[in-house]
Amino acid sequence: MRGIEANALSLAYGEALIIDNLDIKIPKGEITVFIGGNGCGKSTLLRLLARLLKPKSGSILLDGLMLNKMGTKDVAKQLAILPQGPDAPKGLSVLQLVKQGRYPHQNWLKQWSREDEEKVNKALEATQMTEYAEREVDSLSGGQRQRAWIAMVLAQDTDTILLDEPTTYLDMTHQIEILDLLFELNEKEKRTIVMVLHDLNLACRYAHNIVAVQDKKIFAQGKPEEVITCNLVKKVFKMECQITKDPLFGTPLCIPFGKGRCIAEVGASN
Ligand SMILES: Nc1ncnc2c1ncn2[C@@H]1O[C@H](COP(=O)(O)OP(=O)(O)O)[C@@H](O)[C@H]1O
Ligand SMILES: [Mg+2]
Repeated sequence: MRGIEANALSLAYGEALIIDNLDIKIPKGEITVFIGGNGCGKSTLLRLLARLLKPKSGSILLDGLMLNKMGTKDVAKQLAILPQGPDAPKGLSVLQLVKQGRYPHQNWLKQWSREDEEKVNKALEATQMTEYAEREVDSLSGGQRQRAWIAMVLAQDTDTILLDEPTTYLDMTHQIEILDLLFELNEKEKRTIVMVLHDLNLACRYAHNIVAVQDKKIFAQGKPEEVITCNLVKKVFKMECQITKDPLFGTPLCIPFGKGRCIAEVGASN
């Protein structure tokens, strides 16, 4: 199968089993979004799929090839990952960071090329980071820093892009811009995008395929319309909600219950 396929995957941190005998298929050329409560194992699963972590058991295939048998640079040419809360070395500029995305494409024969330069500039433009190129990553706001890291991942120019909470720290406008950018990369260039998102409603708008992770396993996987139900939200997020339709996109829209003001209360006080 093309895309990513993992079978009987398990991982433990010390004695604590976090991923338990899990099977997953990530379709090629689609956007897959992992959802689930805090600490359920989304980041661990994403890092396993990018080979940043070694499974306790099980296998992962990337386009039919055993991931653990591939060379490091070969993996990096096909798959880029933005981990959760990455740290840049002190004093590193945005440009230097983004240039690191080109590292897998270089060797002693092929030094820095015009193509590398173009990919870096394109990534800076796409994330609106060109004007910050000379700034130190450390000196940026949380949102600008996040965009700098996304630029690095884009510069790597891989068919598969894994992103762990790419919209965290971003204001609403930049959240939508980053998701639109990833959507466009998928639509126009058929890149496979796999990301962790916390916003269930944005996840439903952008995902072809939702993977709900819960209790070391996959609770459900499929199209947002098929997967997102009150029952899923109750089981996976321990929350009561109402599911309606996003008025713009027709995708599922989750309205959480809670103790906020309700219409009756607001009406009574007017
Ligand atoms: N390096 C680590 N060592 C030990 N436990 C970890 C480590 N990383 C994560 N965990 C634990 O594994 C569980 C899953 O973490 P994580 O995959 O980061 O969850 P999520 O991304 O869904 O919030 C959590 O209970 C977390 O505390
Ligand atoms: Mg996480």
